[in-house]
Amino acid sequence: MSRRNRAYYLRRRPQGTTTGVDLELVEERVPDLGPGQALVRTTHLSVDPTTRVWMSDYPAYMPSAPLDAVLRGVGVGEVVESRRDDLPVGATVLGWTDWQDYCVADDSALISPFTVLPDPLPAPPGAFLGVLGHTGITGWLGVDIGRPQPGDTVVVSAAGGAVGSVGGQLAKLAGARVVGIASGPDKCRHVTTTLGFDTCVDRTAADWRDQLDAATPDGVDMDFENVGGEIMDHVLGRLRIGARVVLCGMISGYDALGSGSSAGQHEISQLIMKRATMHGFLVFDHADRFATIVDELAGHLAAGRLHADETVLDGLEKAPDALGQLFTGANLGKIVVRTRV
Ligand SMILES: NC(=O)c1ccc[n+]([C@@H]2O[C@H](COP(=O)([O-])OP(=O)(O)OC[C@H]3O[C@@H](n4cnc5c(N)ncnc54)[C@H](OP(=O)(O)O)[C@@H]3O)[C@@H](O)[C@H]2O)c1
Repeated sequence: MSRRNRAYYLRRRPQGTTTGVDLELVEERVPDLGPGQALVRTTHLSVDPTTRVWMSDYPAYMPSAPLDAVLRGVGVGEVVESRRDDLPVGATVLGWTDWQDYCVADDSALISPFTVLPDPLPAPPGAFLGVLGHTGITGWLGVDIGRPQPGDTVVVSAAGGAVGSVGGQLAKLAGARVVGIASGPDKCRHVTTTLGFDTCVDRTAADWRDQLDAATPDGVDMDFENVGGEIMDHVLGRLRIGARVVLCGMISGYDALGSGSSAGQHEISQLIMKRATMHGFLVFDHADRFATIVDELAGHLAAGRLHADETVLDGLEKAPDALGQLFTGANLGKIVVRTRV
């Protein structure tokens, strides 16, 4: 019996907020395998803010996602057929599954080949897309670059999200006073009570600027920047001399990338006034360190020093909703689509 694949094809570049109308869910036959190929059935799909960047034609660190092709994405899956020794049937693998049920793995992988995960899995599959995957590693790298010291004040935006939650908890472990920024009183409470941040500013409150000023009375030594826009501008205005701005993401502007209407930052001159540094980085540039970083994150997790949240949506058809949640702030921690329920 031939298998059927469901795949999200990108049909148009979105204008503004992504609602999924630019994607088409197509059902098609899974091709027969040729020599050197394996068939991976996606079980968990990572949904990431950067997907919105790839959907645009903005010049980024990877080419734009091609139109009329399956949308690019990372996932965990199971090898269900194989003509390769390195991808045996039954193995759980991590890699570029893209937004679909089945993916043919072969040596033509443009980005990187699939990695076989340990058997038995030391953590639930979704963790390899979150705290023990690229978002957890990103949180670790941001703290490694910003080097928070005991007594420093560190601000982390999108503090309840996949990257920010890890970055903030690691900055706290380094002895810093950590101020989160998140949306809504419930998420802010979670950031302080469960994730252990010292305080959290509700970005949806009318007085969020006053809250941020009150939370950083002596200024900011390190900014773990995930959102950009007016929040980043306000934090730049509070930098202390010698501060470090770790530029991880600017999600507030992703819907406008490529449109020519991106607002830009107004307070960059504060870097001069405060002799501060701004360091942009990309997780994919640090692949040679992934194994060591994941070991350290796994150690923190096992010892209870790190808490990881996951928002799970069931069904591949929920992937566009999941992407939208990243932009409304509805997610807590890493958002994952479980494609095999
Ligand atoms: N440099 C790298 O290698 C790298 C790797 C991975 C991710 N990133 C970046 O890191 C950031 C976080 O990614 P993630 O995967 O961990 O996502 P996430 O934080 O789990 O989810 C995104 C969060 O951003 C906040 N947000 C969305 N729109 C916003 C807006 N207009 N203004 C302010 N906040 C807004 C929301 O949190 P609240 O509503 O709670 O504020 C939302 O929950 C993104 O900018 C992403 O592009 C960078």
